[in-house]
Amino acid sequence: MRIASLYRLLTATVFGAATVMTAQAAEPLKIGLVLPMSGQFATYGKEISNGIKLYLAKNGDTVAGRKVELIIKDDAPGTAGDVSKRLAQELLVKDKVDILAGFALTPSAAAVAPLATEAKKPMVIMNAATSALTTRSPNIVRTSFTLPQNTAPIAIWAAKNGIRKAYTVVVDYSPGHDSEAQFTKTFTAGGGEVIGGVRVPIKTTDFSPYLEKIKEAKPDAVFIFVPAGELAVSFMKGFQERGLGKVGIKIIGPGDLTDEESLDAIGDAAVGIINSFHYAPGHKSPENKAFTEAYSKAYPGDRVNFMAVGGYDGMHLISEVLKKTGGNTDPDKFVEAARGMKWVSPRGPVFIDPATRDIVQTIYIRKVEKVNGKLQNVEFDQIAEFKDPGK
Ligand code: PHB
Repeated sequence: MRIASLYRLLTATVFGAATVMTAQAAEPLKIGLVLPMSGQFATYGKEISNGIKLYLAKNGDTVAGRKVELIIKDDAPGTAGDVSKRLAQELLVKDKVDILAGFALTPSAAAVAPLATEAKKPMVIMNAATSALTTRSPNIVRTSFTLPQNTAPIAIWAAKNGIRKAYTVVVDYSPGHDSEAQFTKTFTAGGGEVIGGVRVPIKTTDFSPYLEKIKEAKPDAVFIFVPAGELAVSFMKGFQERGLGKVGIKIIGPGDLTDEESLDAIGDAAVGIINSFHYAPGHKSPENKAFTEAYSKAYPGDRVNFMAVGGYDGMHLISEVLKKTGGNTDPDKFVEAARGMKWVSPRGPVFIDPATRDIVQTIYIRKVEKVNGKLQNVEFDQIAEFKDPGK
């Protein structure tokens, strides 16, 4: 009798433990990534997914007992909301993902936000940087930056450093409108004057007509926001060819223009450009040294940049949040655990603003310089714990 009950107890315990173990082992953590992996913005998808994969390679690919499974959908061009939306729907319905993440460009994140709310899934934005995006769903947390956050510091710097008249050039979509509005507000408040401005299409390949007009307007500086990459290279090429630098016109803006990925293509014309941004690969800290070394080892030949950090920190956030929730991805629990979360990123100390679910971070003022024969953004000033001023 006693032996029989002991046997029952033992089998029940072993069976119970086995069920728990199988349940944990059998349920992977599915993260659906919506990213442009081809087309004009293919480098964005590559860099963000590289950052995520590097985090998993360094820290292990099991989070709160669940093995991480990444499912990437190429939403090229990244600017067509209907494409991003359809792919996110597929991730939710067919792949049954637990979390939506990635989102390189604003139109992609904006189109998917209502789906995250409807499907009750957390959504982690790893680049798209229009300020209002986090208000589009209560389930959004962002680990990148916002355009107003990266624009206000350069506007303050410009007004304090002898730039009186500026001309604005922005790409005609919401991040461009955000940066134009913030620059105008902060620069004007600092005593500067915006003497003209233009919004250019995202498909612009030749900036010459705009640059001719700017040259005639004779500003002290051109304030420019373009999404990182090809547009930056085209703008700089036109600026050189039209001789704006020769007549003393300076270039200022958020650091998307002088992203390390495009610096080599821009060449020496970039030397001396002052800009503000949240991440530089040359940032001096032990965390960044470890990150950049690991990145170069994992992806030889690729220059690490802010998109890679957005992905790396996004995966860090997911991982730390799930440790707190015990692997539960319910969006209310997820967002609650993310609010106020602090860590030391390769970019410096950061935390998630409990009120807005956006990242609070140091914004650095940098100058492009040639260091050991390589063009780099060199940080020389900073504003610590800078919140998005756009909301
Ligand atoms: C955006 O679409 O939100 C975006 C894309 C590229 C950038 C910055 C913002 O460099």
